[in-house]
Amino acid sequence: MATKATLTALAKLTGMREGVLARTARADFADHPDRFKTFSVTLDDLLFDYSKQRIDAPVLAALVELAKACEVEAKREAMFAGEKINITEKRAVLHTALRNFSGEPVRVDGQDVMPEVISTREKMLSFAADVREGRVRGALGQPMTDVINIGIGGSDLGPAMATRALSPFAPPKLRSHFVSNVDGADIGDTLRGLDPSRTLFIVSSKTFTTVETMTNAATARAWITQGVGEAAVHDHFAAVSTQLDKVAQFGIQPTRVFGFWDWVGGRYSIWSSIGLPLAIAIGPDRFNEFLHGGYEIDQHFREAPIERNIPILMGLLSVWNRNVLGHATHGVIPYDQRLGRFPAYLQQLQMESNGKHVQLDGSPANTATGPVVWGEPGTNGQHAFFQLIHQGTEIIPLDLLVAATPTDADAHHHDLLVANCLAQGQALMHGRTPEEAEAITHKQGATEAEARRLAPHKSFSGSRPTSTFLYRRLDPRMLGRLIALYEHKVFTEGAVWDIDSFDQWGVELGKELALSLAPVVADKAAGTAALDASTAGLVAHLRGLRGAEAGG
Ligand code: F6P
Repeated sequence: MATKATLTALAKLTGMREGVLARTARADFADHPDRFKTFSVTLDDLLFDYSKQRIDAPVLAALVELAKACEVEAKREAMFAGEKINITEKRAVLHTALRNFSGEPVRVDGQDVMPEVISTREKMLSFAADVREGRVRGALGQPMTDVINIGIGGSDLGPAMATRALSPFAPPKLRSHFVSNVDGADIGDTLRGLDPSRTLFIVSSKTFTTVETMTNAATARAWITQGVGEAAVHDHFAAVSTQLDKVAQFGIQPTRVFGFWDWVGGRYSIWSSIGLPLAIAIGPDRFNEFLHGGYEIDQHFREAPIERNIPILMGLLSVWNRNVLGHATHGVIPYDQRLGRFPAYLQQLQMESNGKHVQLDGSPANTATGPVVWGEPGTNGQHAFFQLIHQGTEIIPLDLLVAATPTDADAHHHDLLVANCLAQGQALMHGRTPEEAEAITHKQGATEAEARRLAPHKSFSGSRPTSTFLYRRLDPRMLGRLIALYEHKVFTEGAVWDIDSFDQWGVELGKELALSLAPVVADKAAGTAALDASTAGLVAHLRGLRGAEAGG
């Protein structure tokens, strides 16, 4: 339950709202020439600029007070110490152990998990190297040319996002594919044109019970059996799971099964064996660089004072935008085409973690919790939904991400990309007054009356908040850093909201109902009397459409 100190700190922040909104961001910058310096943090080759957020020095001080009132730092240390902070599942939360290079033990129930973390990682990385270097061969003796990861949610989004992000580091002869949806089109389209004798499947599932993954794995198994023979399953499958007994039942050879632990949440599992497709794509050394990037952020998160702590500041700004300014959504716009799946990855990370309606003690949340997270790469988004962000009636805080230097891309294109990223932040902050719009239109040749008529349409309120992440280059280490920053941002928000950021009960009801509806959908004779009228009506209509199709 939120403490009195937390509520007092939130109330103080709420009291500052009107004062901040009474000014424009433009005036904030004009009045404080050192604003960029004050409201930005540099962590070697990564800059976090939050000077275009709607805050001032007293607000920042009050946000720091809020973090202290919520004991964010003590809660953080409880997580790193292996305490069971996922209270509804009674689990420790230790994805940080997977990238712990301190040499220090990490204990769960008194047991140091590091020896097992290291040996599991070594086994996984050595298999990755064997696949890359052609030592893992199919049943007919061919090296693998295609690796297909079958998984969903945390067992898909992380490796899929990261493999695409780091594609310049992957050998061109080895293709990576990701199948997640139970929609047969997903696996069907992926398999079309592939050679089963050169295809390796990785079945990735923490629980090894997820319907989508098990259904796709069975289809893949049938495809291999049909193409290369039943005995080939042995050579064409690997698995990643915490449920080793269930994997064995599927018939995957034990040397190709890579475990992890219940203290690694699905959406935090990219650092574990779930990262196998990424390790195959970029190789063991680069995978280790990726882990090191995450570890560097862990150190920063634990050591930097709150005022200079990037993930804590990200979390506090999110609380300010959500709870005080009332912004219900948050956009993530990477100016990097290869980060195209990063917003989807962050959607799971943030919305599954912090989309919660009760506090740790089960009482209703006393403030709004996680915002809707969404996004698309720039510059494409600019030609689609940015209209609303600039001139719509909703204010949508954005994160803009861009690298100073391109990775395996044309430098001139990259200059334009960076210019667009900076221009969007500038335009959203600065805006254009109706008077300015009128003067510009008039100068462009319109009559005074016409320019005045168009001015409201062509003006921009400005004062729309953005944070910019500017880093040297998107390489494995930087990607590890970016992911870990958002993980700890989510942690900070959860600590303030006093929620369990590490369970996901909200996905269960739909899963249960889908299981009970599956036979009703498949069998037209199954009864629908127990269903609500809408669902029964939909089933009846479905049967009608299918009947018409069969008949006609
Ligand atoms: O449906 C939600 C979820 O449980 C996620 O939390 C998880 O990442 C995903 O399903 C996949 O689960 P699994 O790895 O057990 O197949």
